[in-house]
Order: sequence, then structure tokens, then C-alpha cells
Amino acid sequence: MPRETRARPIFLPGPSRLALLSFLLLAACEGRQSALVPGGEDARILGDLFWVMLAGAVVLWFGMNGLFYWATRRSPAAHSQRIANWLVILGGIAFPTVTLSALLVYGLSIMPDLRATGDGPVIRVTGEQWWWRVEYQREDGSTVTTANEIRLPAGVRSTFLLDSKEVIHSFWVPSLGGKMDMFPGRVNEMTLGPERPGIYRGQCAEFCGESHAWMAFEAEVMEPEAFEAWLAAEAAPAVTPASAEAARGAALFLSQGCGACHAVRGTPAVGRVGPDLTHVGSRHSLAAGRLGTSTEDFAKWVANPGAWKPGAEMPAYDHLTGEQIDAIAAYLEGLE
Ligand code: CUA
Repeated sequence: MPRETRARPIFLPGPSRLALLSFLLLAACEGRQSALVPGGEDARILGDLFWVMLAGAVVLWFGMNGLFYWATRRSPAAHSQRIANWLVILGGIAFPTVTLSALLVYGLSIMPDLRATGDGPVIRVTGEQWWWRVEYQREDGSTVTTANEIRLPAGVRSTFLLDSKEVIHSFWVPSLGGKMDMFPGRVNEMTLGPERPGIYRGQCAEFCGESHAWMAFEAEVMEPEAFEAWLAAEAAPAVTPASAEAARGAALFLSQGCGACHAVRGTPAVGRVGPDLTHVGSRHSLAAGRLGTSTEDFAKWVANPGAWKPGAEMPAYDHLTGEQIDAIAAYLEGLE
């Protein structure tokens, strides 16, 4: 008879299970989209608030359970009425009053930091279905339009003017600070003070429809000189296609009517419906964090946006041949 082997259930005693669970939870806090790995002033303040609250909760948990354990282990007759009265007065009234007051004072004390006025760039971000319209308002009154990516200089506070076109979205870069809702017809203002250069990930934090989870963006914090150079390059018109294939792509882009929705500054494409593509090839991601920016990624997107982002307003261009799509992809990828 064949020996029957049966998988034994993995049983971990209480503390090990707790440690494993904590490890799994903390592992999710690593990286460039973590409120606990701050890249700026605001995230650091919020991170401290989290740890203070957590420490308070741990002390309370052990205190309450310790008392509960102690009380249930003793016979009722062993309790003196005097101690019981003091327990209610100290543990039930004095302790929560002092603790909650201290936490309230601490919580209120950090609010002025989080509401500090900006001394850096002013950036208008509009939530669209499902992407981000980004407009830098420059001091000379001009606007630099881009999409799905935000670049910020380190060491100054940038001001965000947040609104939305159709539904409520929420703007959130966990590594840089708290979130702020974006409402149609109303401009919410918030400032962020990034400190550590790096590429962080932002994510829409309010359910806004079927592709809500695919509504992300990159937030790159740069040294101030690098930021100024980037903004100047971003303000410039698009480069001319560098290859024959890209030039064919540029012609197809116009003849297929892409310019009705997208702008490529310096060309007849001046649409405002979809993302500005003037420098799309220099971005870190395509379609609000959905794809990379290789030529293949552009081709995948153009051929069938709905396959990558359900409900996307952009139609599929699957009537084009593979060669034509590759040409458009080569053109877009070259728009640096
Ligand atoms: Cu936009 Cu969720």
C-alpha cells in the first residue's frame, strides 16, 4: 500500500504569528510609495505622528490587557473596594484625560507646519479619467503643461492647486505628505516640502471609476538647478522626428486625428482633451503609471488603450497595421 503523506497544517504559536504578520505588514511599507519612508518635511511630520500614536496604542493595549489579566486571575473577594474606586478614578478618568489631552496638543502643534505657505513653484493638477493634467504656473505668467508626472525642487515648498474635471479624485504622494481631495468646480490648495531627491510614486486615493487603481503618477524630487533646467526644457516646443520611421509616425499622428485630443507643441496638434505629449518620451511612465516608456509600451498603448486601462476615453487604433503603430510609437518615444 502506498504510504499516505499528508501535509501538516503550519501552526505557529501566538508570538511567532504576530511577528510574521508584523513583518508582512512592515514589508509593505518599504520603498517609494511609503508614508513611513519620508522624502520630505510633511511626510516626516506625519510619520512621527504615526509612531507616537502607535506607541500610545501599544502602551494602552498592554496596560488594559494587563489589568484585565490581573483582575480575572484574582478571586472577587480579594479585591478591596478602595483599590477598585481608585482604579476607576485614575484609570477611567485621570489617565484618558491626560493621555488624550497630550495627544490633542501634539496633534494641533504640528498643524501649522503642514499648512505652511509655499515659496516654490505653483502647480495646478487636475484629475481626469484616469490621468493627471499638470500645469506649472511660471512667474512670468506663462504656463508649462505636462501630464502624469510631477517634478519638484528639493528644499522649497511647492504649492498645489488641485481640482478635477468630472468626479472626485484624491492627490497623494505618501512619501512626500498627506493627501488632498480634488473636487470638480473647486480648487483645493496644499503645499509640500520635499527634501530628499528621488523618484516617488503618487496614487489617486479616492475611488473614481473602473480604472481608479491605474491612476498613478511619478513625483520626482530634483536638485533646484536640475529642476530649473527640466522646466525650461519642458517649456520648449517638441523636437523634430530624428528618424524616417519617426517622421512617418508624426505624419500618421496628424492624419489619424490624434491632434484633436493631444497637443504636441510646435506642431498642428493642439488638442486639450487628453494629455499633452510634447515631451512624453522623457517621462518615467506612460498612461499615468500604467506602462513604461519604451517604443513597445507606446505601441501597446496606441493599439488598444482599453486593454491597459478599462474605460479609457482614448479609442483603440487597431485598424492601423503593426508597421503604422510602430511608426507612431517611434515618434512618441522620440518626443523627449
Ligand atoms: Cu482618480 Cu481614483
